[in-house]
Amino acid sequence: MSQALRVGVAGLGTVGAALISQVAHRREALTARCGRGIEVVAVSARSRGKDRGFDLKKMKWFDDPVALARDASIDVFVELMGGSGGVAKAAVEAALAAGKSVVTANKALLAKHGVKLAALAEKNNVALNYEAAVGAAIPIVKTLREGLAGNEIARIYGILNGTCNYILTRMEQEGLSFADCLKDAQRLGYAEADPTFDIEGHDTAQKLSILASLAFGTKVDESAIYVEGISSIAPADLAAADELGYRVKLLGVAVKTPQGIEQRVHPTMVRKDSAIAQVMGVTNAVTVDASGINPITLIGPGAGGAATASAVLSDIADVARGLRVMPFGRPTAKLASVRKAPMQRHEGGYYIRLQARDKPGTAATIAKRLAQQEISLESIVQRHRKGAPESEVKGGSVPVILITYATSEDAVRKALAAVGRDKVISGRPQVIRIEKN
Ligand SMILES: NC(=O)c1ccc[n+]([C@@H]2O[C@H](COP(=O)([O-])OP(=O)(O)OC[C@H]3O[C@@H](n4cnc5c(N)ncnc54)[C@H](OP(=O)(O)O)[C@@H]3O)[C@@H](O)[C@H]2O)c1
Repeated sequence: MSQALRVGVAGLGTVGAALISQVAHRREALTARCGRGIEVVAVSARSRGKDRGFDLKKMKWFDDPVALARDASIDVFVELMGGSGGVAKAAVEAALAAGKSVVTANKALLAKHGVKLAALAEKNNVALNYEAAVGAAIPIVKTLREGLAGNEIARIYGILNGTCNYILTRMEQEGLSFADCLKDAQRLGYAEADPTFDIEGHDTAQKLSILASLAFGTKVDESAIYVEGISSIAPADLAAADELGYRVKLLGVAVKTPQGIEQRVHPTMVRKDSAIAQVMGVTNAVTVDASGINPITLIGPGAGGAATASAVLSDIADVARGLRVMPFGRPTAKLASVRKAPMQRHEGGYYIRLQARDKPGTAATIAKRLAQQEISLESIVQRHRKGAPESEVKGGSVPVILITYATSEDAVRKALAAVGRDKVISGRPQVIRIEKN
């Protein structure tokens, strides 16, 4: 049998510690599957003295992750420190330049420097594996890069942030406000003390930038993504969605359009009977529409030490088996620059919630403005003062909920601006895009 694969791990936090435990517990199975053993022989973290629940004595310790990355005692370098640059980038570059394969779970690093790092890996004929960076345990990177290598991909969309899905699920099921659900998510450890990165959609955007590259052969480019978070979603939207047969999810969507690859992150209405709508709580899911097959949806845990480590371990197993695929599924020189598809040309259905002034002629004015933009309505729910829940009746106005047939973003924005000028509504209209599925 070949010699064991010698692994160096930088970062022994939530994911790193889980990885060390899984390698130890699955030693025999891994040897059988890979035809050789996998051994963690060297590690690095910030604090050597911290109790991590395993014996560090059997492993060589490095204060400096870059020194570990270059060290001759390892065959593969595993980066589990995090951060889009700094020591994580320096260590990954050092390992690749030294001819060592790299495994990382670091979406921030890949979203920012993925193409450069992939080129370095290619130049040195080594692997750069990052299954855990998107959707943690969900094998979506391999699905796109290897499993669907022969298919043309038309669209990919997913729930890529557990925090947002947890908040939206609780809001929907318990009628709670966004602020209350966020507080609970923080208390339970599902949301950071500063939740901006998650709730404003940036975490989803980083992951989407990687998936879009794999799906469409474009350079990873987070700046090409339109991003909108979930903080404006109200319980009234979720209740109305439910009534109309929809759920609201924060989706990352990348889709081929005649204008280029449209990449967007925003709260999205999806039909209640679709696979993605069934995904509740912190769970993640990705749906791929590919040529010649029905849509594929992968659902699973998108975070957590054990879930993330399982994907890291599968990447290490690939290195042990001698498998190497180009990081983005094709030579980096062949990755195309992204043409950012302008959002105002986005086409689809829309949910619009207006706080309409309760006076004669309001409905006719709204209808006229929509007709001027050639927007047709699939449904309209107009609450009357008498029947409307008290929470929805505000100072002489009542909610009107509209679902449009496919139209353009530009048309919707123009119609709503005109309605605003007509002074028949109060407050800002709520607009949620509908994704066909
Ligand atoms: N946690 C998840 O659910 C999850 C899911 C998917 C992807 N990921 C990704 O996995 C990576 C690791 O996440 P994590 O949750 O395990 O993070 P974490 O718990 O904060 O652990 C980070 C580890 O990196 C070490 N570290 C930080 N800076 C260092 C430096 N300058 N030199 C040496 N070691 C350093 C820390 O050392 P000390 O322990 O000594 O402080 C710690 O062990 C990140 O890229 C993250 O985005 C995480």
